[in-house]
Amino acid sequence: MNSVDTLLKTYFSRSTSELWLGELPVSSLAADFGTPLFVYDQGIVAQKLALLQHTLPPNFAISYSIKANPQRAFLQFFLSQGCGLEIASGGELYQALSAGCPPERIIFAGPGKREEELRYALENGIGEIHAESHQEITRIGAISRQLGRPARVAIRVNPSEAAQGGAMRMGGKAAPFGIDEECLESAVAKVLTEPGLIFCGLHLFTGTQILDHSVLLTQYRRGLEMARQIFQRFGQPLDTLDFGGGYGIPYFAHEQALDMAQLGQALRALFDEYKDEPALRNTHFMVEPGRFLVGEAGVYVTRISDIKISRGKKFVIVDGGMHHHLAASGNLGQTIKRNFPVAILNKLDQPTDTMVDVVGPLCTPLDGLARAIELPQPEIGDLIGVFLSGAYARTASPLGFLSHPTPPEVWLAHGQARLIRRRGTYQDYEHDLV
Ligand SMILES: Cc1ncc(COP(=O)(O)O)c(C=O)c1O
Repeated sequence: MNSVDTLLKTYFSRSTSELWLGELPVSSLAADFGTPLFVYDQGIVAQKLALLQHTLPPNFAISYSIKANPQRAFLQFFLSQGCGLEIASGGELYQALSAGCPPERIIFAGPGKREEELRYALENGIGEIHAESHQEITRIGAISRQLGRPARVAIRVNPSEAAQGGAMRMGGKAAPFGIDEECLESAVAKVLTEPGLIFCGLHLFTGTQILDHSVLLTQYRRGLEMARQIFQRFGQPLDTLDFGGGYGIPYFAHEQALDMAQLGQALRALFDEYKDEPALRNTHFMVEPGRFLVGEAGVYVTRISDIKISRGKKFVIVDGGMHHHLAASGNLGQTIKRNFPVAILNKLDQPTDTMVDVVGPLCTPLDGLARAIELPQPEIGDLIGVFLSGAYARTASPLGFLSHPTPPEVWLAHGQARLIRRRGTYQDYEHDLV
């Protein structure tokens, strides 16, 4: 598991008592930028990207999935490393383009793409659109003809046999994601016959937070088999085969990290089996991970503003909460609320001998950042940090709930801290009123 101790040893440095992030003490970051705040360490992102690149066969491209964290600093870092970007909305397309991403390095997946979003994508010469229904293929075809621009279309497949094991399975069962494998051939036939469309490949994405490498392998083998099937049926080799993202990171005590050494070895053996496959002669393989690349790089730093005891239970109230970090509160799709790794960042050397609930300032019992957790004796003013806050944290949270100012974001690189998003203000909530 990614316990606080493991995280400290793997990714962070510290003085005796205090966490250091990107070569800076957390107390100085909190003093300079205020709390609550999100801090991201570029060094950790670079480490994770290198690990993934080293694990995948050399002919794989990586497209960072923006939904995990759309902050421009992440996008620009991945672009500087030669990655592409995977988007799932017009808003994400805007962010990708304004971060300087060449349009041909963008792929667009996601159900229910609206006409205006597809038009925006095609007008900008996007690399690929991953069609999620027959209707969508028709719609892309119509827009492409109106604009007089050919569109590269891949089919996102919902495989008939589940690749089991992701914490949130998105394929292998009835789902709004992708086209059922049973209908794959008719979807490919439709793309091939629709004027204006270029059939470019397949995309499999069956779940997120996968920690068992054999689940990924099942999915990859299935993708390779589908490529063979399409070639046999249509004589069409695939230009691209996208295996999706889904690589997990351990959050909780019962979870083990994905075994990257085993995954790498098994992938090399798998691709060796298919090396002479005509369907894959000129295929570009890709993956589109989010969480694995950025999850561990973020820490959400809050400060204790009050401590109270209610009927024998100690509540530590901090200045941040569920509105900034829904996932840590256990309300982002978790069936069982478990604590993220949480620590008092200025008391790392003190014994964890006090059982508390860490809660935020919202008037709802949902607003807990850690429940029944043992921490050192807390005091008002201490800094409480939630680790593993780089992915699906700020971006997946109800930031407007109770109208607290939105939290700033700070990027750490080469020993420097840079404010990359300012703290919100009360006035922000009024700027779009009419
Ligand atoms: C189509 C698609 N691609 C990529 C991702 C990124 O997944 P992860 O962060 O688990 O790698 C998602 C997440 O839901 C997705 O829906």
